[in-house]
Amino acid sequence: MMRLPLRWKLLFLLLAPLAVFAPATVFVIHRGVSQELHKEINARGGVIAEEAALLVVDDLLIGERQAAERKLADVMDGHKDLAYLFLLDTRGEVVAHTFPEGFPEDLLAVRGRNRADGSAVRVLLDDRMVNDLAAPVLGGHAGVVHVGVSTDAARGVSHEVLLRLTFIGVGVVALGVLLTWLMTSRATRRIDRMAEAVAAIGSGKLETRIGDREPDELGKLASEFDRMAEHLEKGRAEREATLARLAQSEKLVAVGRLAAGVAHEIRNPLSGVVHCLDNLTLDDADTKRRGRYYQLMHEGVTRALRIVNGLLNYARRHELQMQSVQIDPVIERVASLLESSFRRAGVRFEHVRDSALPPIEADPHMIEQVLMNLLLNAIEATPREGSVTVTTSRSGDFARIRVIDTGCGITADAIGNIFDPFFTTKDVGAGSGLGLSVSLGMIERHGGSIEVSSAPGAGSSFEVLLPLRRVHETGSATTEAA
Ligand SMILES: Nc1ncnc2c1ncn2[C@@H]1O[C@H](COP(=O)(O)OP(=O)(O)OP(=O)(O)O)[C@@H](O)[C@H]1O
Ligand SMILES: [Mg+2]
Repeated sequence: MMRLPLRWKLLFLLLAPLAVFAPATVFVIHRGVSQELHKEINARGGVIAEEAALLVVDDLLIGERQAAERKLADVMDGHKDLAYLFLLDTRGEVVAHTFPEGFPEDLLAVRGRNRADGSAVRVLLDDRMVNDLAAPVLGGHAGVVHVGVSTDAARGVSHEVLLRLTFIGVGVVALGVLLTWLMTSRATRRIDRMAEAVAAIGSGKLETRIGDREPDELGKLASEFDRMAEHLEKGRAEREATLARLAQSEKLVAVGRLAAGVAHEIRNPLSGVVHCLDNLTLDDADTKRRGRYYQLMHEGVTRALRIVNGLLNYARRHELQMQSVQIDPVIERVASLLESSFRRAGVRFEHVRDSALPPIEADPHMIEQVLMNLLLNAIEATPREGSVTVTTSRSGDFARIRVIDTGCGITADAIGNIFDPFFTTKDVGAGSGLGLSVSLGMIERHGGSIEVSSAPGAGSSFEVLLPLRRVHETGSATTEAA
């Protein structure tokens, strides 16, 4: 029952009472009609019996049996539905009757059974049902007249009534089924439409509307649903606008920080150069001091140039020189370049390689540069006696490189900014804050990612994922086929 569609349930609810009440109603009406018909037959039979009793009283008293029989035959001729008439004397003997082929003795069983309330005795005579009614002659002192009224006609009428009632009943049920079917079809179609709309909203299509404006409960539900979808859609639009504004303001903050960083980094060396120039024009310094000023000016301009080059590197997009690269040998090469830095910092280097790691498609110079930046950061963050470990492994379709140090870690405030250009916690001149942002840009161009996790005071871990096979370069207009 629970798994039945709603339409069938409604149909069942309608049909179940109809199936019980329709036949019951037909039965009650049919029974009432046939009782009324019998009452009428009995009343008529009673009247005919009384009339016959009056007609034959004289003949009975003077013993004119044949005259009595003729009179009974006349009465019978006048009423087509009479089956018989017979007259009994006070001893219960048949005095006269209308049976041409002799009186059927079985019929004597009706003697004395008629009741005073006028109800009849039912008799089966030659396969015909007959109601037997009796009337006393002279109050019973002369005899009794019995009249048999055939109930065939009444049965025919009651059959006709039954047939018509059944026909009407079946018609009513059929009409009920048809109307319920049509009504429930419409209702279930509307409910189906609502279910589809709910599913569409659930999958993010907030522009979906039901558009059912019928002035009933389902229509009201649909309107409320449409209103809710409108709110959701408006909410999403507002959220998207807010996010866009936020992204814009974040961009502005980043540009501001970039500009401030550049200005700060370049102003110091340029101020030094101006200072040297002032001294050179005003001072009558000797050749040695002049040489010193020139050297300081050269250093200042070189530093400014390095910063500008760094910026250019950040902004410019070199073509990727893709080739098959074994990662572990690249790590070894970078580590050997940094050997003296490790030694000076008193930091141990460890390399845990995965011999099964296949070569990847990448630009080896960029990978070197990224490893260099990560290892330099790790060395700078790690105190003496600390260690820096590089591990390689495979993760699905990616090669994974982890650079783990036991250094100072990154504070929660800083960790969200370390990939921003010019973000640095190092002293002025010690770090430009470009290392990680440049590295992230390079790895993303390979279709990879860099994730950081850190525990302040315990160390940091940078995880680089690089696709094993070459993918379309991300964020670039140039797409390189695999
Ligand atoms: N392994 C690390 N441990 C702790 N902090 C780190 C680590 N790596 C990066 N950081 C933090 O992230 C900041 C940004 O690093 P990034 O490499 O971009 O710039 P930088 O090292 O400061 O300067 P440079 O341009 O010379 O690399 C660093 O200043 C430092 O605060
Ligand atoms: Mg760095």
